[in-house]
Amino acid sequence: MSTIETPRLRLRPFHATDASVAYPWLTDAEIMRYMPTGQDHTLQQVEARLARYIAHQDRHGYSRWLIFDRATGEPIGDAGLLTLPETGEIELGYRLVKPRWGKGLATEAAQGWLAYAFDHLGLTDLIAFAHPGNPASVRVMQKCGFHFLRHDQVGGMEVVVYGIQRAAITGQG
Ligand SMILES: CC(C)(COP(=O)(O)OP(=O)(O)OC[C@H]1O[C@@H](n2cnc3c(N)ncnc32)[C@H](O)[C@@H]1OP(=O)(O)O)[C@@H](O)C(=O)NCCC(=O)NCCS
Repeated sequence: MSTIETPRLRLRPFHATDASVAYPWLTDAEIMRYMPTGQDHTLQQVEARLARYIAHQDRHGYSRWLIFDRATGEPIGDAGLLTLPETGEIELGYRLVKPRWGKGLATEAAQGWLAYAFDHLGLTDLIAFAHPGNPASVRVMQKCGFHFLRHDQVGGMEVVVYGIQRAAITGQG
């Protein structure tokens, strides 16, 4: 199964042909402001990022996935899991085009990923991190049941790291 469905959203892995679809938000300075990788500037950079996501999917069975509005079919962002090279921890991240902010959609995408990660992939521990100046992202983590773990640096960026365990969601170890 390589789709996630929530009441309003459908998520699927990126294809190499999706670069022009994701270009609008991956090159947006405001959306990408708190990403350790920074924003992309060219279609070639977007293609290279998607190639990394596709390779990650092939290697691990999860990655950042495209988010579609189920009602309209419109692509509205991406969300998913990446393994952090620094620690080996698996990080849940999310970003949406700006007209879709403030409607609970990032929380819905994150909750869809938690169910997929714990029930389908059998993962037991996830983290999420945010720049301290990004309270909306921290709030999404809290609404999903993540708890504060530590202050840290990721890719040279100051972050707060939150964590969640499968046992906390499912009652199983
Ligand atoms: C962060 C982001 C994904 C949130 O998406 P979203 O769909 O608006 O999130 P939700 O609606 O599910 O929840 C946002 C919560 O943050 C709250 N919030 C928003 N701005 C806030 C602020 N400035 N201060 C405090 N809380 C804030 C909202 O009120 C909401 O909480 P509530 O439901 O308790 O009212 C979106 O703003 C985004 O894509 N930002 C750019 C990319 C990014 O920063 N991603 C996270 C990287 S770590």
